[in-house]
Amino acid sequence: MTDQETTTIRQIAVIGAGAMGAGIAQTIAAAGWPVTMIDVDDAAIARGTRTIAGSLDRIVKKGSLTADAADAVRSRVTGTTDFASVAGADMVIEAAFEDESVKRDLFRRLDAACQLDTILASNTSSISITVLAAATNRPERVIGMHFFNPVPVMGLVEIVRGARTSDTTYALTESLARSFGKTPVAVNDYPGFVSNRILMPMLNEAIVCLMEGVADRDAIDTVMKLGMAHPMGPLQLADFIGLDVCLSIMEVLHHGLGDDKYRPCPLLRQMVAAGKLGRKSGEGFYSYAQR
Ligand code: CAA
Repeated sequence: MTDQETTTIRQIAVIGAGAMGAGIAQTIAAAGWPVTMIDVDDAAIARGTRTIAGSLDRIVKKGSLTADAADAVRSRVTGTTDFASVAGADMVIEAAFEDESVKRDLFRRLDAACQLDTILASNTSSISITVLAAATNRPERVIGMHFFNPVPVMGLVEIVRGARTSDTTYALTESLARSFGKTPVAVNDYPGFVSNRILMPMLNEAIVCLMEGVADRDAIDTVMKLGMAHPMGPLQLADFIGLDVCLSIMEVLHHGLGDDKYRPCPLLRQMVAAGKLGRKSGEGFYSYAQR
């Protein structure tokens, strides 16, 4: 298939059933597509399925979706551990662990397992799309599709063009994001793109403020919530995103831009080393009752 030919998206696969993968699968199914959610083991699939069920229940309780419509959304999501099932997809959205070598390996495997014209998108929050594309034989069909947590609620998708992403791939991905009910924004492939180039240094600086005793946790979060109308304070948001994810994005910014202004805060490093990863581990800047 050449890049001049058009592609119709009929079947979408999502790699990863974590908070982002499940949220993306739910969003796609809610827009009317059948979607396959792939992860490495049954426990991960079960967790992702529970995440989707919980989110749909919340929307039904709110009254913006009927129970029947929620059932229809659920029925369009198929969870599987069979990686080979990507062969049936016209588009794959990778939402695996935020680690460059893990993602490069996944893109190499996706390239081998998918049809030649399948678009391979990554939900990476900071890793270079050009680098991921270079692991494949179809760099013109590799693109970033960066969603925000909680995916069913947040309106943005950053569409990241790699150095060799084609116009056709870009146009198709952008129109797909619109059909999911999201607002796509085009950005180029620089470390952290736009979202995390701006967000992460702010969260990192809030952690520096805490470490240096500028103010306590609640004061820092209150300043940003009431003073800047942010829905969550920066320490609460860092916990929500995951402190390991925040650290890995800061490392990408620091390494990729080569400027010490992106140096990860030592307290952030220490908390990740201690296994305090935020909401998902039960403890971060705040404590969370284990589910
Ligand atoms: N599924 C479905 N609906 C959900 C939901 C979910 N998982 N989570 C929240 N909602 C809905 C609620 O039902 C509610 O809907 P209504 O307003 O229609 O009643 C609405 O979202 C607000 O939820 P709540 O009232 O329960 O709580 P809240 O007002 O505190 O909002 C929040 C929760 C939407 C998470 C809000 O705190 C928020 O916007 N926080 C900031 C989130 C953010 O910045 N996300 C981006 C993180 S960065 C990222 O993801 C990318 C990266 O690369 C790191």
